[in-house]
Amino acid sequence: MAMLQYPSWEKLTSHAVEAQTFSLHQMFAEDPSRADRLSIEAAGLYLDYSKNLINSTTIDLFRELSLEAGFSSAIQQMFTGADINKTEQRPALHTLLRTKSSEVPKDLSGEGVQIAAVLQQMNNISAAIRQGNWRGYSRQTIKHIVHLGIGGSYLGPRLLDEALTPLQNREIQCHYIANVDGQHISQVLAGLDAAQTLIVIVSKSFSTPETMTNAATSRKWLLTYMDEVALPQHLIGITSNVQAAIEFGISKANILPIWNWVGGRYSLWSAVSLPIAIRYGYDLFEEVLTGASSMDKHFSETDMPHNMPMMLAWLGIWYQHFFGAESHAILPYDHSLRSLPQHMQQLDMESNGKTIRMDGSHVEYPTGSIVWGGEGTNGQHAFHQLLHQGTRFVGLDFVMPLKPHHEYQEHHDQLVANCFSQSQALMLGRNSTQITDAATPLQQQHKQMPGNRPSNTILLHQVTPGSLGALIALYEHKVFCQAIFWQINPFDQWGVELGKELADDLYSFFKDGTGLDINNSDGSTQALIERYKNVRNNQS
Ligand code: F6P
Repeated sequence: MAMLQYPSWEKLTSHAVEAQTFSLHQMFAEDPSRADRLSIEAAGLYLDYSKNLINSTTIDLFRELSLEAGFSSAIQQMFTGADINKTEQRPALHTLLRTKSSEVPKDLSGEGVQIAAVLQQMNNISAAIRQGNWRGYSRQTIKHIVHLGIGGSYLGPRLLDEALTPLQNREIQCHYIANVDGQHISQVLAGLDAAQTLIVIVSKSFSTPETMTNAATSRKWLLTYMDEVALPQHLIGITSNVQAAIEFGISKANILPIWNWVGGRYSLWSAVSLPIAIRYGYDLFEEVLTGASSMDKHFSETDMPHNMPMMLAWLGIWYQHFFGAESHAILPYDHSLRSLPQHMQQLDMESNGKTIRMDGSHVEYPTGSIVWGGEGTNGQHAFHQLLHQGTRFVGLDFVMPLKPHHEYQEHHDQLVANCFSQSQALMLGRNSTQITDAATPLQQQHKQMPGNRPSNTILLHQVTPGSLGALIALYEHKVFCQAIFWQINPFDQWGVELGKELADDLYSFFKDGTGLDINNSDGSTQALIERYKNVRNNQS
């Protein structure tokens, strides 16, 4: 594995050789206080990282490495608004969105004022809708919000909404549409009454084709029921491209700005989450911000190794560089957190899937992680087999809220039992002498489980707006820390551009034959286009 350019990397590399022989079982047997020592409690979350292939030397070496990588100054730069997103020459100020106005750093007071004004706007709009003062064209109250957005303009609010569902206001329903696939929007709109529907168009750029296509379709749909003059009562825009939103037909008063110093995948802390304030009340949205802010405080003020995001970052680096881990699974044991893996997938993979360092040079080591996962216990009956007996090393986070929002205690006891048992089974494994029920010698072999497979467990007391905010912020900071190690910029995403441009050209070609000289395309694309053209033109 290629070296990272830090003086202590060599020491870590030799230590990693020794670590290949670590036995979790033995380390627990030798140290009754291991679980206590290797756990962190912060911002309402509890991280148990004791089931990891590490000892005190590992921690000491990572601390040394972090000092060499200049962590404190990097963290300070982010919180104080330095232009750390160097390729786009701007700061990354998502943490400011959740900072109490009284605590906004002096140098960022201008941004602080803008944030406060938009929060007030969110408060006013959500109150007007919830109290029934916002009326549609036929004077009826709003019962349905259709949120149109993709990527960061979609995944965060959808996660929040699902996670807070037990607290839901059943009066107002939110429908999230991201994909340009006409199937989804046609199904959603077919079930709605336009008179009671508000379309919220969320796009930082206000030019993302998927969102703009869904927006145009929704606008047309509205116009089949109402005159153009009534549109402002049914359209809201959330964007940093205010002019484009006005040109689309949204009234200026119904446009909530977001700023270019907030990356899409970090924008759920902004007006992008307006549907959450509408559905659950503005105060509840504020509790999400407060939860995230307490994780920010913990992250920026806590020394290593008691810093939770930093610890997750260390462990990810440790396994990726020295144990061959290519992927990391997030396993929430809670139905309301079922979209957590998907949100974290965008956060991590769009941030850290990079090959060029900040200084323009190529990395010679793997960056980013393939992030995936799914809700427990469903995954146990699908992909956990590979985790237990497969040949791949996978980083694992079990996420478990201790208190449910329902009254079926026997369900919850089973859920918790399964969550805790999975990490235990992964760690303990089962050797041949422990198998007494094998029908054949072959089965005896196949029933063995290697064990010694590490994992983290993150406990929440309950899924609340605050704990949810803290949990999402925890992962944001983990991703940021890893980017510092790898010396990459986690805040840009240039890699998504080429595909967008090619799709644009191809779409023009399908529409009116422009945009593409088909004869200059590669053979594979030509053949695919030909097949599509045949079906499209025959419509059979
Ligand atoms: O996929 C690229 C991306 O730019 C994401 O980073 C972003 O969250 C998403 O597209 C949507 O962009 P916008 O909010 O500008 O529509």
